[in-house]
Parts: sequence; structure tokens; C-alpha cells
Amino acid sequence: MAVERSFVMVKPDGVQRGLVGEVIRRLERRGLKLVAAKFMRVPRELAEKHYEALKDKPFFPGLIDFITSGPVLAMVWEGPGAISVIRNTMGATDPAKASPGTIRADFALDVSRNVVHGSDSPETAEREIALWFRPEELVSYDRSVDGWIAEEK
Ligand code: RTP
Ligand code: MG
Repeated sequence: MAVERSFVMVKPDGVQRGLVGEVIRRLERRGLKLVAAKFMRVPRELAEKHYEALKDKPFFPGLIDFITSGPVLAMVWEGPGAISVIRNTMGATDPAKASPGTIRADFALDVSRNVVHGSDSPETAEREIALWFRPEELVSYDRSVDGWIAEEK
């Protein structure tokens, strides 16, 4: 599996409900590596750019109101196959359809309050990371445990 980076966000509902640590814990324990993190209130313009692909959907205005309604934790996580691994760890968009054991199944009920975001493809990940972080905010480092998490190639 190629090493990938994914943009992950604990949404305002996750922050309000005290699930920041839970989301980080699940990604950390999986073996993924944290490369950037920023706790912030999302400016409306950034929210609209982030969800640009959904601008014609009927739920778009409500989605923007929600994402800007309170602080979020924006992060970048790295690891082999990180993009699909994180999507699978989060579960389906609609928590009612998410598999048990996923973040959305374990902590959410409603599609509009689904706790986390994760990039859905390598192209989206690249676009989102550039949108939310400056290059110097991404921290490259080695972990001595890496060889116990994935075979070094
Ligand atoms: P996200 O981007 O937040 O990680 O979620 P996703 O890829 O699983 O789903 P996406 O299609 O990108 O939708 C983005 C967010 O819009 C909200 N949504 N509401 N009311 C609805 O039918 C509806 N559909 C989507 C969700 O909060 C979803 O996470
Ligand atoms: Mg999405």
C-alpha cells in the first residue's frame, strides 16, 4: 500500500460532544501518523470552498451553517492506504447505515451530525490539505515504531 495523506476533521458536533480524543485515539491506535493539527473556528468562505462539490445540493446551506457553528479540529494523518483506511474507520456518511464499530455508527445517528470528515480520494486529499494547511504546518518525522506497523519497503 502506498503511503498517503488524508485531511480529517472533527466537526463541530464532535467537538461539542467531547469526541476529539476518541477520534484521535482510534486513528492513532490504528498506526496512522499525525502530521498536522489545528483547532479553529471555520470561516464561511473556507467552509464553502471545502464543500464546493456539494454547492447545488439542497442541504448545502444547512451544511455550511453547521460547519461554521463552532470550532473544529482540522488534521492531516498519514499512513499506508490512509485515505480508504480512514474512510472505513469513519463509516458510511449516514450513521444509520454505517457498520458497527465505525466512528459514525458508534457515536452518531443523523447524516447532518456525523462527527467526522475524511478525504474521499487522493485528488480530494491533496486539494483539502492545501486548502486547510500551509506547507510548513505539515510536520515530517520518523517514529521508531514504524517498522512494527508496516513492513518497510
Ligand atoms: P464528509 O465529506 O463530511 O466526510 O462526508 P462524506 O464524504 O461521507 O459525504 P459527502 O457526500 O461529502 O457529504 C458531506 C456532508 O454533507 C452532509 N450531508 N447531508 N442531508 C443529507 O442528505 C446530507 N447528505 C450529506 C453530511 O454531513 C456529509 O458528511
Ligand atoms: Mg465528502
